[in-house]
Amino acid sequence: MERDKRPMSQQAIIIGGGIIGLSSAWTLLQHGWRVTVLDAAPEAREASWAAAGMLAPHHEADEATALWRLGIDSLQRWPLFIEQLGQEHIAVDLHINGGLMPLLDDNDATAIERKRTFLTSHNIPVRWLERHELITAEPAIAATCHGALLLPGGQVNPRLMCTLLQNALTAHGGILRYHTPVASITERRVQLANGEILAADEIILASGAWTPQLAALAGIDLPGEPVKGQMLRLRAPDGLLNRFIHCHHAYLVPRRGLGLVVGATMVMAGFDRSDDPAAIERLAAGARRLVPALADAPVVEQWTGLRPRLNSGLPIISRLRPGLIVATGHFRNGILLAPITAAAVHSIAVQQLPPCDLAPFACPQLSSS
Ligand code: FAD
Ligand code: GLY
Repeated sequence: MERDKRPMSQQAIIIGGGIIGLSSAWTLLQHGWRVTVLDAAPEAREASWAAAGMLAPHHEADEATALWRLGIDSLQRWPLFIEQLGQEHIAVDLHINGGLMPLLDDNDATAIERKRTFLTSHNIPVRWLERHELITAEPAIAATCHGALLLPGGQVNPRLMCTLLQNALTAHGGILRYHTPVASITERRVQLANGEILAADEIILASGAWTPQLAALAGIDLPGEPVKGQMLRLRAPDGLLNRFIHCHHAYLVPRRGLGLVVGATMVMAGFDRSDDPAAIERLAAGARRLVPALADAPVVEQWTGLRPRLNSGLPIISRLRPGLIVATGHFRNGILLAPITAAAVHSIAVQQLPPCDLAPFACPQLSSS
């Protein structure tokens, strides 16, 4: 029998089945790698499941930072990322139709002016909507809102996105193992909590808020602490809002067929996930002030997620040592940054030119050594 002369494809183990691990696994799989995703939790139930899904590089940026540029690049990749998964944008509720920054008070006026000056000086198209234009675009917005800045951006349903990635991976031969905590990492090997040992050419550490602990097991210092976010969902008809609204006390994101997602708190309390009912009330009240039609809308779901934040505040997408790559610390923007992170992980694995400048996202410990 003739031997198969094709080179054996390379094997990657991805630790973490949130959006960063799943997207990286998918991109590697598309480039011919064999991939196994290991996750401690059932399904993708951590930060990626908790997220609002805003694709918003500009709303929280007032300076031309490396993170801002990374977000702009990633936003542009979203439509093609979905198409390469063989899906229509609607399958994951992807809309690249901008996001609003409303003018409610003097604080907003200052923030909006600063944002407009910053973005226009970098040729980012922003549009000021006077009150009459705003109510044409978003008829449900409160009369107390004097206008709004429309910024480039969009939104996606992150839960549908994770399911889509899981389905695509398994349909194309990827292996997904949930309920499978990794206990330790050694050279090109991982040991599972049940004692099983798996080997690979590359191990990708994409374990969200848990990455610092796992990196420490591999002898690498990646200090960071999760930032808890509480969110809720209000019942609302489709079309009540057409795009997300991000103001200083709350953000509202329409989710097709499911109402409006409202977020979010920012609390540093380690891995504590306890609820704060008063915080949920405050967020709901903020949403109802902004959209009076929500006055009687019930809270139909509330939940907590742990944002993966490293002490630098920046993600790290970097090789840690031969056979070990890390992609973590995406903090408030991991959904936005999934497509560019996946492309970056692949470029590091195959030692090709990165899709963008990754120097700001290298592991400081390694770049200074
Ligand atoms: P995760 O989704 O947390 O996945 C990490 C996975 O690693 C988990 O599934 C976990 O079980 C697994 N794991 C941990 N330890 C182990 C182990 N020992 N072995 C195996 N697996 C392990 N971002 C945006 O871009 N837009 C938003 O609108 C937005 N809104 C947000 C709202 C909230 C309330 C929160 C909490 C976050 C929000 N984010 C948003 C941020 C975004 O959710 C995160 O940055 C992103 O989901 C991080 O993805 P991840 O895959 O790194 O982490
Ligand atoms: N990006 C929104 C959040 O992290 O709450």
